[in-house]
Amino acid sequence: MSPRHEGVRGATITGTGMYVPDRVLTNADFESMVETSDEWIRERTGILERRISAPDQASSDLALIAAKRALEMARLTEADIDHLIVATTTPDRVLPSCACTVQAKLGAKRAAAYDVFAACTGFIYGLGIARGVIGTGDADTVLLIGVEQLSRIVDYTDRNTCVLFGDGAGAVVLRPCAPEEGVLSVSIHSDGVLGDLLEVPAGGSLLPASHQTVEDRGHFIKMRGKELFKVAVRGMEESLRRALDLAGMEPQDLDLVIPHQANQRIIEAMRERLGVPRERLVVNIERFGNTSSASIPISLDEEVRAGRVKPGTRIGFVAFGGGATWGATVSRWTLAVPRGAPAAVAVGAAPEVAR
Ligand code: UT7
Repeated sequence: MSPRHEGVRGATITGTGMYVPDRVLTNADFESMVETSDEWIRERTGILERRISAPDQASSDLALIAAKRALEMARLTEADIDHLIVATTTPDRVLPSCACTVQAKLGAKRAAAYDVFAACTGFIYGLGIARGVIGTGDADTVLLIGVEQLSRIVDYTDRNTCVLFGDGAGAVVLRPCAPEEGVLSVSIHSDGVLGDLLEVPAGGSLLPASHQTVEDRGHFIKMRGKELFKVAVRGMEESLRRALDLAGMEPQDLDLVIPHQANQRIIEAMRERLGVPRERLVVNIERFGNTSSASIPISLDEEVRAGRVKPGTRIGFVAFGGGATWGATVSRWTLAVPRGAPAAVAVGAAPEVAR
C-alpha cells in the first residue's frame, strides 16, 4: 500500500479489549492425548498452556465480550459503529458472516458488517481496510475484531498441530486522527501457491461435508510446519521492514513490536534479523498458544491495560498465516480527533469527546 497522502485523514486505535475462555489446557494435559511431552512443546514452540472455549460458546460470543471492552475504553457505544469487521477463520457458521452475527448480538444496527478471511494475518488486513475507510471518510468509527476458536478445527489426535492452537478474541475501535498519527503504514502480501502449507481440506465447495470427509478427518487443520516456519520468518521480517520504510522509520525506532504468536522460535528469529531489542518484543504465547487472527489484538490489549502504551509510542504489528498471507503495520499511538472537528486537524492533546 502507498504511504500516507497529504489531506487524507488518519485512523487511530482509541479502544482495545480482549477475552479468552476460562478453561486452560496445559502441556501436561496433552501427554495423555497424543505422544508428546511438556518438554517438547515448551522447547519447540514456547507454549505452556492455551485457552479452550466451552461447548456452548461460539466465536461470536468471544468476539462480543472483547468488542464491548474495546467500546467501553473508547467511550463509544454500538450505535456509533459504521463498519464492523471480523477477522476470523472460524466463524460461527459458513453463512452468515461472523461479523453479521456479532452485529446482531451487539445491536450495532447502523454498521456495515463483514468478515476478513486472511488467517493469522487477518487483523493486519482488517487494520488496512479500517485505515482505508476512515481515511476516505466512508466511516468514522470502525470496530475491528480478531477472533478464533481453533479448538473447533484442531485434530486432537494429530500431535503436529493440536498442541499449538488456542481460542480467544481481541478487538479495537478506530477513529479519525491527524494524518501523521495513528496507523502510519500498512504492508500486506499473499501467495496462494503456498495454500496447502496450512489448510482445512473439506467443508468448502471443493469437498463439501460428507460421511467420507468426516471419516477422512478432512474438516481439521493440516499443516506442513517446517516449510511454513521458514517462509514465516522471511515474510514477517520483509513486511515489517517494508512497513517501516513506508513510515520513514528503522527497526530501532519501534518502542514495541507485537508479532503474531505462532512459535517463540519464529518470533525470536525475526527479532534477531531485524535487530529489535528483546525487551521491546511482546510475547505471550506461553499463556495462549497460537490464537491466529486474535493474537495481535489480545497482546495489544494486555500492553495497553498494563500502561506500556502511551501517546507517542511507536508500535509495529507483524504476522504470517495460511493462504499464505503476511503483513505488517506501523502506528504511532495517539488520541482521536474530537467529534465534529475538521478531519485533518493537528491532534495534540485533544481528548475523545464522550457521548
Ligand atoms: O500461525 C500460522 C503460522 N504457523 C506457523 O508458522 C507454524 C510454523 N511451524 C512451527 O511452528 C514448527 O514447525 C512446529 C512447532 C509445528 C514443529 O516444530 P519443528 O521443530 O519444525 O518440528 P518438526 O515438524 O520438524 O518435527 C520434528 C519431530 C518429528 O519427529 P521425527 O519425524 O523427527 O521423528 C515430529 O513428528 O518432532 C515430532 N513432533 C512432535 N514430537 C512431540 C511434532 N509434533 C510433536 C509433538 N510432540 N507435539
